[in-house]
Amino acid sequence: MRLTLKIWRQANATATGALKTYQLDSVSEDMSFLEMLDVLNEDLNAKGEDPVTFDHDCREGICGACSLMINGEAHGPEVTTTCQLHMRSFNDGDTITIEPWRAGAFPVVKDLMVDRSAFDRIIQSGGYVSANTGSAPEANSVPAPRDKAMRAFNTATCIGCGACVAACPNGSASLFLGAKITHLGELPQGQPERWDRVVSMVGQHDAEGFGGCTNIGECASACPKEIPLDVISQLNKDLRTALKNGH
Ligand code: SF4
Ligand code: FES
Repeated sequence: MRLTLKIWRQANATATGALKTYQLDSVSEDMSFLEMLDVLNEDLNAKGEDPVTFDHDCREGICGACSLMINGEAHGPEVTTTCQLHMRSFNDGDTITIEPWRAGAFPVVKDLMVDRSAFDRIIQSGGYVSANTGSAPEANSVPAPRDKAMRAFNTATCIGCGACVAACPNGSASLFLGAKITHLGELPQGQPERWDRVVSMVGQHDAEGFGGCTNIGECASACPKEIPLDVISQLNKDLRTALKNGH
């Protein structure tokens, strides 16, 4: 395939960025999107130009590091991570616009890489169970109803990629927050800290500059792990209960 790429180039956090145009003449439809960018960077390196900076790690859809806005959609046109998107989702002759996540709480580091440490600080504020658990207990020693165990498991699949924030016109991290609150709050082990956790994590979310949820739903559409929108209802319900009881 022959492709025209319009890529956001920005030297550092304070520099003014702009879209720059590149041509690629031999992209295989079997390449992943990141492999296509690797080819571009090999070309740029060979010419002595600055390669495009972008985030990635596992390239298997599990770490949450990859993060590109592709033609205005977080992670591109498929329901998957950028690293699992393949060039067969595009056509010969296409022009593809590639930008970083756009959100005030995710400042650009360079080119397509943003600083998502705000998510780490939200997790540090309460996204854990602090009870000493010792060695692995017998699986049935703490019974959990199957529907709750499945919901906890499904919401634990959130990889913290930030696509929900990038897709939201308010720059809200409510889907991410809802996923973390739900996966810990559904299980018996998560109960002792349940109410303090939600107050603390929502407070950190707001302090980081993420916006509020107005039920638009773009977050759930962009989520590569299909975290359901109703985790935000659970988040709000837990927060109301916690505040009502003086947490
Ligand atoms: S909720 Fe989905 S889109 Fe948001 S951080 Fe988690 S996996 Fe990524
Ligand atoms: S690089 Fe790990 S999820 Fe994409």
